[in-house]
Amino acid sequence: MSIHEHRRTEHEIDTLFVSRWSTRAFSGEEITDAELFSVLEAARWAPSGGNVQPWRFIYAKRHSPAWPAFLGFLNEGNRRWADKAAALILLTSRTTRDRGDGSGQQPLRSHSFDAGAAWSNLAHQARLQGLSTRAIGGFDQDSARREVGVPPDHALEIVIALGRPDANKSGLPDDLREKDVPNDRLPLAALVAADRFSFA
Ligand SMILES: Cc1cc2nc3c(=O)[nH]c(=O)nc-3n(C[C@H](O)[C@H](O)[C@H](O)COP(=O)(O)O)c2cc1C
Repeated sequence: MSIHEHRRTEHEIDTLFVSRWSTRAFSGEEITDAELFSVLEAARWAPSGGNVQPWRFIYAKRHSPAWPAFLGFLNEGNRRWADKAAALILLTSRTTRDRGDGSGQQPLRSHSFDAGAAWSNLAHQARLQGLSTRAIGGFDQDSARREVGVPPDHALEIVIALGRPDANKSGLPDDLREKDVPNDRLPLAALVAADRFSFA
């Protein structure tokens, strides 16, 4: 498959940005700790408000004791394909910060925005390593919080499925195989305006 059959850019950019896409077809193969920690390292270097770095990553590798619990808190529709990932990574973000000025813990407005930047770094680094990612917002937050022991001052953002892509998609149920192709984007003109917010 050529990515350019599915995704045409309007301006010149590095291929990395269109070649990262979220397949649901994972091979079920394991990845090494070196591979896993390289994608996490890339996430570590994301920018954040005040350099607070509110993101936290809790992972379970396939066949690890925690794997069934991670898989278990995904919505059923996501579990159908995510069971072939090599790792599931719960991304949380700290919602408060202490500025050290005696005001105690104060809300950290950018915690989710910052976590999104970390996810993006992670996903692009994975792509550079020949690995695939798919973010999963469809999971049971209460169950994830309980199973993983996430404290109340951390928000649950997403679960990230990470693994080797399955090029022929043989492990995917038929209905998912058909729709497992790179998607498109809105035109830039629908997203960008000069001077004033002027969108339909
Ligand atoms: C916050 C967030 C939540 C998502 N939740 C799900 C999900 O629950 N299940 C799923 O299959 N895909 C999920 N996705 C994947 C998106 O559908 C996908 O990223 C989007 O269609 C863009 O496609 P691309 O990543 O291939 O470019 C989620 C993505 C994000 C960023």
